[in-house]
Amino acid sequence: MRQRLIKRRKFLLSLGALGGIGACTTSNFRNWHNLQQAFANGQNDLIAQAIPALDQQAAAKGLIYGSAGSYANLTSDSAYTNLFTQQCEILTPENELKWRRLRPTPKRFDFRQGDWLANFARSHNMQFRGHTLVWHESLPDWFEDIVNAQNAEQFLTQHINTVVKHYAGQVHSWDVINEAIDVKSGEPGGLRNTPWLKFLGRDYFDIAFRSAAQADPQALLVYNDFGLDADTPQADAKRNAVLQLLRRLKSNGTPIQALGTQAHLFANPGGTKFTKVRRFLGDVADLGLKILVTELDVADKNLPKDPATRDRIVADVYRNYLSAVLAEPAVIVVQTWGLSDRYTWLTKQQPRSDGAAVRPLPFDAQLQPKPAKQAMTTAFSQAPARSAQITQPTPTTFSDIQGHWAQPFIQALLDKNILAGFPDGTFRPNSPVTRAEFSAIVNRAFREVPQNNPTIEFQDVPRSFWGYNAIQIAVRRGFVVGYPGRIFKPQQQIPRVQVIVALASGLNLSTSDLNVLSVYQDANQIPTYARRQVAAATQREIVVNYPSVRLLNPNRNATRAEVAAFIYQALVNAGDAESISSPYIVQISR
Ligand code: G3I
Repeated sequence: MRQRLIKRRKFLLSLGALGGIGACTTSNFRNWHNLQQAFANGQNDLIAQAIPALDQQAAAKGLIYGSAGSYANLTSDSAYTNLFTQQCEILTPENELKWRRLRPTPKRFDFRQGDWLANFARSHNMQFRGHTLVWHESLPDWFEDIVNAQNAEQFLTQHINTVVKHYAGQVHSWDVINEAIDVKSGEPGGLRNTPWLKFLGRDYFDIAFRSAAQADPQALLVYNDFGLDADTPQADAKRNAVLQLLRRLKSNGTPIQALGTQAHLFANPGGTKFTKVRRFLGDVADLGLKILVTELDVADKNLPKDPATRDRIVADVYRNYLSAVLAEPAVIVVQTWGLSDRYTWLTKQQPRSDGAAVRPLPFDAQLQPKPAKQAMTTAFSQAPARSAQITQPTPTTFSDIQGHWAQPFIQALLDKNILAGFPDGTFRPNSPVTRAEFSAIVNRAFREVPQNNPTIEFQDVPRSFWGYNAIQIAVRRGFVVGYPGRIFKPQQQIPRVQVIVALASGLNLSTSDLNVLSVYQDANQIPTYARRQVAAATQREIVVNYPSVRLLNPNRNATRAEVAAFIYQALVNAGDAESISSPYIVQISR
């Protein structure tokens, strides 16, 4: 719920900005100002940014929107990465959690790229999906020689146990089994002829779901498949087989909680109808299952070459499909298989015979919104609101903040989804904060601050570092200033004075009246470079000192609790949060 609230707030502010309406809060004013500037400068990227993002539009109806993303693209293309974090509330690794990537040898697991993506999602407030534990494709080369009927169950359960436990508590939903129906297989129930069926028979479904449920009881467990969408006899047969499978699993007591419908759609010149899928999804929902649209995209290989014509027809397919499936309230997630035409599997797998680049996704290869994005927006806005939310399986109450001096600040930021606790149910209010972590937090708190400052490529922040993007955004927003020699030390703990300077810089706070510093008994310890900004922050009641309100302790490392208090007070100052009463807020008149 807390996530929905902040998304809705962002959405309203953006709408207000577009129409130049609404109460003149600081953020709303900034947004409007940014938009005017963007129009004046012809900065299309910024204009697109100011328009409500897909995830906000979806969130307004209780839906989660996101995309598949890859380690390779998200670590190498910062413009694309920015678009991704701006538009998405959920991320699925496109290939990084498949056996082929995770299992270089029968004994070894390589989680490096998956971990990077999980951290990336967490640090940008996105949820994380697992894809996929059991699939007949993307198996490692050694699989065929090593796995057999005798050891298949052990390989399957060990894989699921290891991988699901590794990400336990961080995953919204796991595609436990992928694409296990092939109606032409000749097998009973249209089960696909996979190594797992060959070695373990149809029990492998139950084995896989039970292993996943044991390893992470919080993740939503999904059966994921394609070809369930069109009004064709083939899709009819597939829908029947999938429904039969789901009914069998449910009546067996297999712990399955959702269907993932991939929705790799095709656009045809004469239009595409989706009348039958609605009834099918209703039948799935009647089994008590949730539904996720997991891999939506629209192949345009059958369309004429003219890009505008293609874009219009592709957008119609998005609109028709989404209006059909979103009528079913059990649909809780809409995810596209990629965000921009710059990176799509269809380039290789469904190329056009005329050699023109494919255009299947909501943003074009220049990262500009296409009619498909507008169609999605319209479909989201017309969808009935969802009441039951599946939120990130992260706890929302933390025993170690109860009675803590900073509890109200921390709780308010948890409610605004600016801070998160740890999956083990602790918040760790007294732990330090690294500079990279601070960058990620400050970005979440001040999403509306424009990114106008020049970028800095720090020598010690490689693109592969999980916080690279967060640091870049904080630099462009002006929260990261004064790091000479392009050395950032991202893992170093941030001192209190630097938190204050960062906030004052990013929010453009300054004063020439240094007399206010006399409120601090230890004012002489404030470094010279920081004095103006500390004074400005003090005037605006951003500084919070515990245990003694007169002691700033500028050079002591900030705790998570202190960062929460400073940031909250900065939000109050910006008119973006209600004031909280605390004896530790420094007030000059006191
Ligand atoms: O990583 C290697 C790289 O090292 C090498 O240089 C390159 C040469 O072509 O290949 C790279 O691996 C490719 C990988 O995509 C990354 O581009 C694999 O060969 C290729 O098979 C793989 O394709 C993926 C495919 O699944 C098979 O795993 C697609 O990216 C991915 O979009 C696609 O996704 C599937 C879903 O998992 C399930 N549903 C259908 C969907 C589309 O096919």
